[in-house]
Amino acid sequence: MKFFVDTADIAEITDLAETGLLDGVTTNPSLIAKSGRPFREVLADICAAVDGPVSAEVAATEFEAMMAEAKVLSAIADNIVIKVPLTWDGLKACRAITGGGGKVNVTLCFSANQALLAAKAGATFISPFIGRLDDIGADGIDLIAEIRAIYDNYDALKTEVLAASIRTPVSVKQVALAGADVATIPPGVLKALVKHPLTDIGLERFLADWKATGQTIV
Ligand code: E4P
Repeated sequence: MKFFVDTADIAEITDLAETGLLDGVTTNPSLIAKSGRPFREVLADICAAVDGPVSAEVAATEFEAMMAEAKVLSAIADNIVIKVPLTWDGLKACRAITGGGGKVNVTLCFSANQALLAAKAGATFISPFIGRLDDIGADGIDLIAEIRAIYDNYDALKTEVLAASIRTPVSVKQVALAGADVATIPPGVLKALVKHPLTDIGLERFLADWKATGQTIV
């Protein structure tokens, strides 16, 4: 499973990119707003900091305006992926952009049928929002499993399942078990994946025992 980070914070992205474990970045209008920076500037910085795809979302809701915004966003860098909402106009834009050789992340997916439509529209990625479904008492992981099963039924559907709106390390494990191709994860949750108290305790003991030998390896 690929790891994308869900942020527009360039310091966090650079820090994670240095681990070599980061495969891409997703942003949305809320995250760009939170960065407090002009969108062109922040997206250009992000695209330079990572080797993989960087999702940049349109703010328009009508087809023609989405296409005009997609043109501006695509010009920022070669690794920009245009993010469109899961609406009829968004699906039309998805078809037009991928038909022209561009990449599209269809966002705000909350049902398997929506994911089927996005795949038929040629989406590169579909973003089902796990956490927001859990928030209303539905089961986000079930949705990932359903989409996986549907896409696996048809060789013609090439869309990658990008599990989004992830808030906990447990969800990362669950979406991996459910067969997501990608998980986009907030920086804090991504960093928490390495943590286990028994790792810390074990390391502490090993270091104490080693120190007692008085030896050094180099
Ligand atoms: C991903 O593309 C979305 O922007 C993001 O995961 C939404 O997460 P949230 O529901 O925690 O805002």
